[in-house]
Amino acid sequence: MEFCTLTKVFHNPLVSSLVLLSIATTSLINPSMASKRCDFPAIFNFGASNADTGGLAASFPFAGPKPPSGDTFFHRSTGRFCDGRLIIDFIAQSVGLPYLSPYLDSMGSNFSGGANFASAGSTIRLQQSVGQFRSSPFILGFQYSQFQRFKPTAKFIRDQGGVFATLMPKEEYFDEALYTFDIGQNDLTVGFLGNITLQQVIESIPDIVSNFTSNIKNIYNLGARSFWIHNTGPIGCVPLILTNFESAERDKYGCAKAYNEVAQSFNQNLKEALVHLRKDLPLAAITYVDIYSAKYSLFSNPKKYGFELPHVACCGYGGKYNFSNSVGCGETIKVNDIDIFVGSCERPSVRVIWDGIHYTEAANKVVFDQISSGAFTDPPIPLNMACHTKLTLD
Ligand SMILES: *[C@@H]1O[C@H](CO)[C@@H](O)[C@H](O)[C@H]1NC(C)=O
Ligand SMILES: *[C@@H]1O[C@H](CO)[C@@H](O)[C@H](O)[C@H]1NC(C)=O
Ligand SMILES: *[C@@H]1O[C@H](CO)[C@@H](O)[C@H](O)[C@H]1NC(C)=O
Ligand SMILES: *[C@@H]1O[C@H](CO)[C@@H](O)[C@H](O)[C@H]1NC(C)=O
Repeated sequence: MEFCTLTKVFHNPLVSSLVLLSIATTSLINPSMASKRCDFPAIFNFGASNADTGGLAASFPFAGPKPPSGDTFFHRSTGRFCDGRLIIDFIAQSVGLPYLSPYLDSMGSNFSGGANFASAGSTIRLQQSVGQFRSSPFILGFQYSQFQRFKPTAKFIRDQGGVFATLMPKEEYFDEALYTFDIGQNDLTVGFLGNITLQQVIESIPDIVSNFTSNIKNIYNLGARSFWIHNTGPIGCVPLILTNFESAERDKYGCAKAYNEVAQSFNQNLKEALVHLRKDLPLAAITYVDIYSAKYSLFSNPKKYGFELPHVACCGYGGKYNFSNSVGCGETIKVNDIDIFVGSCERPSVRVIWDGIHYTEAANKVVFDQISSGAFTDPPIPLNMACHTKLTLD
C-alpha cells in the first residue's frame, strides 16, 4: 500500500515544502544532481509502446495502430497506440522540444531535438510472441545499437551542411540530452500470457533488470549523463489482464492483485539496481520515476481527475471491459453477418484506457503532471532539474 500513502502525502499542501526539503537533502547526498533548472537540447528515448511515437508503424505498417488512434490530437494515425499524445510527448513539450521522430521512420524525420528508439512490443530480453502479445524484434539491446550507430551517422550528415545539418543534433547535445526509458512491461506480459507461473515470472525479474541496467551503462559509456527511468505500470488494472484472467483476485479498486504484485516486484528490483548504478556511474544523474503509483491513482481515485469507467477500454469490443482478444481498436469484426467497426467511445477525454492496454491522452497528461513535479521520483526532483550539474542554466 506504499503508493496510497504516497499519493495522500502529496495531496497535502505541506508537500511543496517537503519536496523542496528533499531536493536540498538530495543535492547534498548526490553532488551530480543539478540544483538549478536544466537546459536539455535533445531527448533520446528507449522503450516500448507506451513511448513509441511511430517506430513500429514505420517498420511494420500492418502491426501499427489504426484510426481512430491519433484522432484526438494529431487527427491522423501517427503510430502512437493512443488517441493523442503520450507521456514522452508531454515530456518533450515541457522542455521546449518538438515531438520526437522515431529512429526507424525514414520519412520526414527531424532528429535535431533527439530521436526515439522505442518501438511497440519491445522487451528487454528477447521474447517470443505469445497469445495476444506480438513481440517486436527491437529489444532494448538493439535500440542501444541503433543509438550507437546514430551518433557517428548524425555527425556524417551534419558535416554535409545546409539543410542536412538542421536535421541532426549537434555533437554536444549527446552529453547534454535527457535519456528517457519506459520498458519492461512486455517482459512481464509475455510471462503472464505464456505457459509459466507468476512465481516463475517473478524469478525472471533479476535477470531482466540486470539486462536493463547493463544497457543503461552502455548508453552512459557513449556519453549520456541525465537519465529519467520509468518503472512499470499497474498492468493488473488494464482490460488485457482483467479479461484474460477473469477469475484472478481483485483488489479494492478492481485491479488484478497478483499481476500488480509482479509489477511491483519488478519496480522494487529496478529501484534497488539503480541505487547500485548511481555508485557505478558517478557522473550520471539517475532519476527513478514511479509511473506505477501515478497510474494507479487513476484507478484508485478516477473521479478526482474527472475520469469514469477506469477499467473499461474506450476503443475496444465486448465483455465487461470492452476488450476482446480477437479484434482490436480500429479493426472490424463480423457479428451475425454484420460488420462492426471498433471505434472510439464518445468522450475519450474522460477515460483512462484507450485500447485495452494503453492509456488515453487525457490519462497520459495526468500522469505526466504528477511525475514531472518530482512527487513520484527518486530522488524527488522535478523533471526540469533532473540533469547533471554541468547542464544547468545560470
Ligand atoms: C540482454 O538479453 C539479450 C537476450 O535476451 C542478450 O542478447 C543481450 O546481450 C543482453 N544484453 C545485456 C546488455 O546484457
Ligand atoms: C528541424 O527542426 C529544427 C528544430 O525544430 C528546426 O530548426 C529545423 O529547421 C528543422 N529542419 C528542417 C529541414 O525542417
Ligand atoms: C504448459 O506447461 C505444462 C507443464 O509444464 C505442459 O504439460 C503443457 O503441455 C504446456 N502447455 C502448452 C500449451 O505449452
Ligand atoms: C466500447 O468500444 C466501442 C467501439 O467498439 C465504443 O463505441 C464504445 O463506446 C465503448 N464502450 C464504452 C463503455 O466505452
